[in-house]
Amino acid sequence: MNILDRLKSGITTDSVEATHKIAHELAEHLPDEAILTLEGDLGAGKTTFVKGLAHAWSIQEAVTSPTFNIYNIYQGTRQLAHMDAYRLEESPDIWDELMLEELIYPPFCLAIEWPSKLPFIPWPITHRLHLTSEGRKRTVSLQ
Ligand SMILES: Nc1ncnc2c1ncn2[C@@H]1O[C@H](COP(=O)(O)OP(=O)(O)OP(=O)(O)O)[C@@H](O)[C@H]1O
Ligand SMILES: [Mg+2]
Repeated sequence: MNILDRLKSGITTDSVEATHKIAHELAEHLPDEAILTLEGDLGAGKTTFVKGLAHAWSIQEAVTSPTFNIYNIYQGTRQLAHMDAYRLEESPDIWDELMLEELIYPPFCLAIEWPSKLPFIPWPITHRLHLTSEGRKRTVSLQ
């Protein structure tokens, strides 16, 4: 079964490395302009998953949670914009304020943690990922 079908049924991992591997597989099946949303509680593994994407695109820089600066952009074989909307003040002009559109160009992946904190997302979402945790287990699924 391909990664998208497996993700639709949910994939459970029991290590950070296994979560990276799933991200790696998904990374190979994304269109040139990819928007991923990652929903899930604190510590569910959203940032861990994004680190796996970064690795897949040979991004050397360490990916850290962009909680205070809203987003970070990394350049590898694909551009990765990693956004964490958790602390975002709701503003109807948020996308104009972020000026992301001027900074990203294909092939790119915009990965958004806490998408529910955004009033809207101005692009079609390629995949909506859900992460849940239980002990050391993390389950990643596609909506
Ligand atoms: N199977 C697993 N997959 C991913 N992470 C795991 C796994 N088992 C344990 N962990 C741990 O769970 C934590 C996940 O943290 P991470 O920062 O990725 O979560 P998050 O969903 O981004 O949280 P936040 O909402 O605070 O940004 C890490 O400390 C990681 O080491
Ligand atoms: Mg995070």
